Amino acid sequence: MATLTPISQSQYLLKKAHLKPSQARIANFGSEFIPKSISLQFRLPNCSRMIKSPLKATTVVSATTAEKPKRRYPGEAKGFVEEMRFVAMKLHTRDQAKEGEKETREPQERPVSKWEPSIEGYLRFLVDSKLVYHTLEEIVEKAAFPFYAEFRNTGLERSEALAKDLDWFIQQGHVIPEPSSPGVTYAEFLKELSDKDPQAFICHFYNIYFAHSAGGRMIGKKVAEKILDKKELEFYKWDGDLSQLLQSVKDKLNKVAESWTREEKNHCLEETEQSFKNSGDILRLIMS
Ligand code: HEM
Repeated sequence: MATLTPISQSQYLLKKAHLKPSQARIANFGSEFIPKSISLQFRLPNCSRMIKSPLKATTVVSATTAEKPKRRYPGEAKGFVEEMRFVAMKLHTRDQAKEGEKETREPQERPVSKWEPSIEGYLRFLVDSKLVYHTLEEIVEKAAFPFYAEFRNTGLERSEALAKDLDWFIQQGHVIPEPSSPGVTYAEFLKELSDKDPQAFICHFYNIYFAHSAGGRMIGKKVAEKILDKKELEFYKWDGDLSQLLQSVKDKLNKVAESWTREEKNHCLEETEQSFKNSGDILRLIMS
């Protein structure tokens, strides 16, 4: 059984780990990405148990060897998708998701139950979403970077489903608008990004598909209750088991990111904010 190490030695360990609060920041990240409750882990001599201390970054330190401490990024142990998820969840408002930390500023950041959607606005949202999903499908088809081909035919594709929904609206006598600025801008941006910056592109790819499967579905349900007499659109239906489809894409994303350097991973994570901005502009159309 291991004996507990005196306080002074623990303090020495912390010093050795160079963990001043300012240095617990993730390189190039704003403080909003710093986990509030992540703990420092270290191993005491002759003790196989991990000791937790409430510091802001997670670092694994060996006391018995002169090994360099290995800094852990939030979610890193579970794979890179978990890192992307961690950053994305912090960028939600509390009204949007319980892990959210952002202040509510934009209309789409208010609780969905308080939204006042219109059919015209929802159609603008569906048209722009179709353009964005179609663009993603074209990008992985073209595969400017060979690994994009891994993400063809994942079962998450949405442009065909959205085309069916727009046909349904036509049958109901509605006029389908042309794509508007938020969708056109985002589609152009994604095309350019995918040709020159694969890590940043993957951040958008992840956020678009996974946001739709989570908050997006909830929004679809609430909007349908308010203005579509609960009609369930094809946009919110998948062939096969959605959680399995998502898991298979997660596995592929994790595999792809295994070959990325830490800088490339951080670059990808930093793109999350841009992704929220573009998708937020499209979501806001629902209330236009
Ligand atoms: C009104 C807007 C939004 C609402 C209400 C919302 C709500 C949610 C909720 C409830 C979750 C599930 C949280 C959980 O797993 O416990 C979630 C997950 C997520 N959201 Fe959002 N969200 C919104 C907008 C966005 C936007 C704009 C993006 C980025 C483009 C985004 C990206 C994500 C991602 C990546 C996840 C994780 C999905 C997963 O774990 O599979 N969300 N959101």
